[in-house]
Amino acid sequence: MTEIIVALDVDTLERAEGLLKALKGVVCWYKVGLQLFTAHGRAAADLVRRHGGKLFLDLKLHDIPQTVQHAVQEAHKLGADSVSLHLLGGADMVAAAAAVSPRPQLWGVTVLTSLGPKDVQVLHPSARVPDMIESLAALGRGNGADATICSPQDVAELRRRLPGLSLKFVTPGIRPAGANLNDQNRVTTPGQAAALGIDYVVIGRPITHAKDPRQAAQDILAEMRAATAKATEAK
Ligand code: C5P
Repeated sequence: MTEIIVALDVDTLERAEGLLKALKGVVCWYKVGLQLFTAHGRAAADLVRRHGGKLFLDLKLHDIPQTVQHAVQEAHKLGADSVSLHLLGGADMVAAAAAVSPRPQLWGVTVLTSLGPKDVQVLHPSARVPDMIESLAALGRGNGADATICSPQDVAELRRRLPGLSLKFVTPGIRPAGANLNDQNRVTTPGQAAALGIDYVVIGRPITHAKDPRQAAQDILAEMRAATAKATEAK
């Protein structure tokens, strides 16, 4: 069953706590990303833990292997259940992170969805985004990453290109039908994500900016449950 991770993209601990209280018992996972972590560091992680939430530390680590390994050790000490890293950091970096024990789950970013052909062609004139996503997902899986972070619209293609490679998926870019797209272009509905068997959907504004965040999360969960049941029936 697909799980929701609510993105705590807010600037104060008070706002984060308001969301944690509103969503208690409905949502289990919370993402602390660059904004909240830069502003409040350990206090933001502690807040999520204190409210019984699971913590996804979305810091997109990318450095030499030893530095990333040490950061993963510290993420474990902070109580993170998962931490993100850029697979572009290379096989040795991912393997060094995966060697930490015990450690949070490692969720690897392939190619940021904000990057296009002109950006990847800086690396090589013949570089293509879909090929890079494929080879980076394979690199992550082959070196101990536990999941791939990508667009939901890349999931089917990745499964087709990498048959036999068991991949867990974490995807942002989710919008219920009719919701404000904000700055997201290629969106997928919660129902479509669930039908695809995506493991975790990262959702921010459709929940955090809703008049009633708890009701918004419950509606999304109901849509995902119905889609999972339908997909299971169809098998
Ligand atoms: O508010 P919204 O649902 O668009 O938030 C999505 C979350 O996922 C944000 O925290 C954003 O940083 C993150 N994200 C994204 N698109 C990506 C990667 C991460 O929206 N390609």
